[in-house]
Amino acid sequence: MTQTFIPQMEPVYGEEEKLALIQYLNEGGWGTEFNKTLEFENKVAKFTNVKYAIATNNGTISLTLSMLSLGLKPGDEVLIPNLTMIATYTSALMIGLKPILVDIDPTNLCINIEEARRKIGKKTKALVYVSLNGRSHDMNMVKDFCIDNNLFLIEDAAQSLGSYNFDKKHLGSFGDFGSLSFSTPKIISTGQGGMILTNDEDLAHKVRKLKNFGRIEGGNDYHDSVGYNFKFTDFQAVIGIEQMKKLPNRIKWKKEMYELYEELLNHKFVEFIHTDLKRTSPWFIDIYISERSKLMKILKTNNYGSRPIYPPISSQPILNLNEKFPVTEKYSNRGLWLPSSSSLTEDDIIALSNCINEWIR
Ligand SMILES: Cc1ncc(COP(=O)(O)O)c(C=O)c1O
Repeated sequence: MTQTFIPQMEPVYGEEEKLALIQYLNEGGWGTEFNKTLEFENKVAKFTNVKYAIATNNGTISLTLSMLSLGLKPGDEVLIPNLTMIATYTSALMIGLKPILVDIDPTNLCINIEEARRKIGKKTKALVYVSLNGRSHDMNMVKDFCIDNNLFLIEDAAQSLGSYNFDKKHLGSFGDFGSLSFSTPKIISTGQGGMILTNDEDLAHKVRKLKNFGRIEGGNDYHDSVGYNFKFTDFQAVIGIEQMKKLPNRIKWKKEMYELYEELLNHKFVEFIHTDLKRTSPWFIDIYISERSKLMKILKTNNYGSRPIYPPISSQPILNLNEKFPVTEKYSNRGLWLPSSSSLTEDDIIALSNCINEWIR
């Protein structure tokens, strides 16, 4: 064991964030959602090339608010992939919707569209498309699928800031809504935080009202609809604005990082998912390996963090479904996230890969 512990992920904040926050406080900022949040929203809207970007308190609530704003009602079904973070599932449960789990496509680990088609029933109203680790199908095909089947499309792009479709449009900009997350492990972070993307003015207006107590307009106490408090804070926006300035370099580094790991771990025992780095900025470095727990132990002994990819949602104790999802199970059982923070250096990756290669040998 030589170097200090390298975590699987860590958020990276610098002097710029510190100084910006001090300046904001020195200028008497109130902290609550106001001009800084607007500035952050505008930056994200410009970056993702959507008309409206609306900040929320996290990516889970962004999904729930999207579902609420589309008028989904208790008992309505939404199709979601079985391999995703639990929030994709629970964001629907929160408002009484029924998530229908669908197996994944082995080429990109996103929802299998043909299987989604087979699971559409009378009550199915929406598809939540998770661009897992920044990868996706052709989103124009996904959009057409939803239009043909009378489904709303919500893109859970929590892991996809900096990732694009084949036609160079940003992921999260195809659906009725797209949802981003700025939680701690994301490529940029505001501690917690989410963003709803849309090109529809009416939907944007609905979301803004829902997240602000259903107020007719800001600052008054008249409500012609029910709303809640899912607001962001200017404290977070100040950090987010600085993080957005760092985003282009982070995207470049994440791609180089993925390429380097893939080159160094070029071994029949280690599977990488084919990733088009021209359009994809991988959030984490994910590998698929049969002796995962043994490798995790070796990494831990050598002071490296790692983390198994998500268990299938269907296997979670809250559900424990009997249904089989062979592709999800195949990848979920072998998937491992290697250290992937923006703060990682090339030397770290070389040393870590040497450690894995030695163990394989
Ligand atoms: C695919 C996916 N969806 C939703 C979320 C939830 O986002 P948040 O943690 O901001 O609520 C995450 C967070 O990691 C995620 O990875």
